[in-house]
Amino acid sequence: MTAAEPGAQTRTAVIEARGIAKYYGHVAALEGVSTTVAAGEVTCVLGDNGAGKSTFIKVLSGVHRHDKGELLFDGAPAAFGGPRDALAAGIATVHQDLAMVPLMPIWRNFFLGSELTRGRGPLRRLDVPAMRATTRAELLRMGIDLRDVDQPVGTLSGGERQSVAIARAVYMGARVLILDEPTAALGVKQAGVVLRYIARARERGLGVVFITHNPHHAFPVGDRFLLLKRGTSLGEYGRDDITRDELTRLMAGGSELDELSHELDRG
Ligand SMILES: Nc1ncnc2c1ncn2[C@@H]1O[C@H](COP(=O)(O)OP(=O)(O)O)[C@@H](O)[C@H]1O
Ligand SMILES: [Mg+2]
Repeated sequence: MTAAEPGAQTRTAVIEARGIAKYYGHVAALEGVSTTVAAGEVTCVLGDNGAGKSTFIKVLSGVHRHDKGELLFDGAPAAFGGPRDALAAGIATVHQDLAMVPLMPIWRNFFLGSELTRGRGPLRRLDVPAMRATTRAELLRMGIDLRDVDQPVGTLSGGERQSVAIARAVYMGARVLILDEPTAALGVKQAGVVLRYIARARERGLGVVFITHNPHHAFPVGDRFLLLKRGTSLGEYGRDDITRDELTRLMAGGSELDELSHELDRG
């Protein structure tokens, strides 16, 4: 190993996207979009409705194949045949609808599709006590204190449900956690709770991709900020390259808003 050049990137990219394009028929949902996802960092993807945020993470998570550009995973071209391949490689995606079963207990949802069992052959059955205990312990490790893991997931608040999904991905060994607008439907306090878990996942060494249209949610946790507008990149900024005000202004459409405020100016 040679010493890193001053200012050289010391963190290794888990995912690198270079000049990604994705078309739906004639519609370019993405064009020339690049970013990096590194272990122990949060990459925020910001943009208005229709900016291409969900399309971009669908490319990263193996749901869609990109039409142009390069997608590297651990430095080699990613060849995900679908979301299962991406998940097996350690890319966990928490979708906005969360894919949870509201009437089932928290622990059941936590282990959905990866149930713990004991015994063999005909004696093999679900290991309910182990799943209960593990769920409680893993939630606590993330700082989530839900006394009763037997309560149905449907009784949790939106923020708590997001937290369970994040803790689950961390426990299942994800290296990259992709969160599509986890704070969009939440109030200020609940959003704060989710931001805390995003920070916790980052501290535990995961690379996090955090999609949001709210610069006030992105700024406190983000290490880099990728701004999308109508499928194109408005640029990517490191934490030290942009202020919260600049980010807010870019997100608000900067000059467009200035014009509007002139137009509405009542003198
Ligand atoms: N399955 C699809 N088929 C056709 N067009 C789509 C599809 N999904 C998204 N789009 C279009 O691609 C653009 C980007 O959408 P999307 O990635 O969902 O944006 P965002 O998540 O930022 O709101 C939009 O113009 C949207 O209408
Ligand atoms: Mg979206």
